[in-house]
Amino acid sequence: MRFQPLEKLINLHDGYRRHFRFDALALLLLQDQGEVYLIEPRCPHREHPLENARIEHGMLECPLHHYRFALTDGRLLRASEESCRNLKTWALVYEGNEVGLLLPD
Ligand code: FES
Repeated sequence: MRFQPLEKLINLHDGYRRHFRFDALALLLLQDQGEVYLIEPRCPHREHPLENARIEHGMLECPLHHYRFALTDGRLLRASEESCRNLKTWALVYEGNEVGLLLPD
């Protein structure tokens, strides 16, 4: 595994949201209330983009049908229609003054 840096810590702030792509892997890095999360950028329900999703106390709510997911582990918390899979999340790795993730070599 190799460390893939995403962002310098000094650039992170509440409300921060930024997309990344590594080959087929799409990621959304975001910060809320001092916590930094790395998730897939589209809703597992019907693929709606999540960069403008509401976030509150570690919970993300998709703007389209208001499904809710836990940001810590991606668990589906609320579904108003049919159920869907959990949101994909990735563990963040801190190295020096950067945050990133581990990718396969
Ligand atoms: S697309 Fe996100 S809740 Fe339906």
